[in-house]
Amino acid sequence: MPFSATSSAPLSQSHATLQGGPRCSPVVDGGEPLLLLGDDPRLLRLLELVRRVADTDATVLINGETGTGKEVVARLLHGESRRRREPFLAVNCGAIPESLQEAEMFGATRGAFTGAAASRAGVFEAATRGTVFLDEVASMGHALQVALLRVLQSGEFTPIGSTQSRVSGARIIAAANVNLQALVASGQFRSDLYYRLNVIQLDLPPLRERRGDIAKLVAHFAQTFCARYGRPPLTFAPALLHRLCAHDYPGNVRELQNLVHRLVLLAGSSSLTLSDLPHDFQTTSPAPVQPARLFRQAKACVVEGFERAFLSAALARSGGVIADAARDTGLSERVFHVKVRKYALATRAQERAARDTEPKVTQA
Ligand SMILES: Nc1ncnc2c1ncn2[C@@H]1O[C@H](COP(=O)(O)OP(=O)(O)O)[C@@H](O)[C@H]1O
Ligand SMILES: [Mg+2]
Repeated sequence: MPFSATSSAPLSQSHATLQGGPRCSPVVDGGEPLLLLGDDPRLLRLLELVRRVADTDATVLINGETGTGKEVVARLLHGESRRRREPFLAVNCGAIPESLQEAEMFGATRGAFTGAAASRAGVFEAATRGTVFLDEVASMGHALQVALLRVLQSGEFTPIGSTQSRVSGARIIAAANVNLQALVASGQFRSDLYYRLNVIQLDLPPLRERRGDIAKLVAHFAQTFCARYGRPPLTFAPALLHRLCAHDYPGNVRELQNLVHRLVLLAGSSSLTLSDLPHDFQTTSPAPVQPARLFRQAKACVVEGFERAFLSAALARSGGVIADAARDTGLSERVFHVKVRKYALATRAQERAARDTEPKVTQA
């Protein structure tokens, strides 16, 4: 792949869609469906903004700590725009040495610098009328900040070693995991560039500020990884879920995703308890007691965890038959159905449907 992309997925195949409502926005990325899951009001407001600005040429600045979903949002913006059939090309400015950032973005002519054996296009050229996603934009050197400002003002850029300007038709989406405004104040980031990038600002909340979404994310990642490795569905003991909800997640959703991945891979049985957590997780003390405003979210997290574990156990006892599980637990079938859908629990009917859609092998 010619560019350092922040994702391993083939960028040119990146499509996204907001169909299905803001709570659960399927993103198809190189054939892999991704999700921007969450019910937190800040996330829902952000998704509403994404809908509104996706199909415009406005430059968007996405702020958020690492792992909060900035790249997912950038791909959503691209996938919901009329540029969706054009490339989505990402440059992680933080991962490339300053000396190479310019070539990565604007390209270089043959012999422009030592090792440039052939001329190469930069992302602004290769993206044609697609989207260029500039990740960790704060790591951009001063010279490059000036060159990027020029692209934003006139669309023009000049490959290294060339005397001829070219014009880019790409839309720019930038992301920052540090406070850019503070860098502007300390003179490390150009204020004119900041204002050009910041036409629309989207702020992704850290996971510890939306703990109400943790149980849902745990269930989603567990289901995804169990399906990937052909493992039976997992249940999480309430104490385990409570611990997961209390953690601060400096790595945000990515950290939670990796943790659940590990739990799925190492699971000794289909019912996980607190002792299945990695040792360091068990020994570090959980986050301090939630402030009152988080009470509702923390309660929802524990209640959802309890409901999921309770109902999966009932379904396991009834062999996946909802009517029997409902009778067994004293719930109405209608309520049970609603909860099965909410928690995406495995039922007999689903098993049958999956068997019916399996390709039939006919022996000669
Ligand atoms: N709200 C979410 N729902 C589901 N998965 C998410 C969500 N936010 C992030 N992820 C997943 O977490 C990982 C990190 O997301 P990413 O967009 O790369 O974060 P960032 O760019 O902010 O570091 C990805 O695998 C992504 O699919
Ligand atoms: Mg990222």
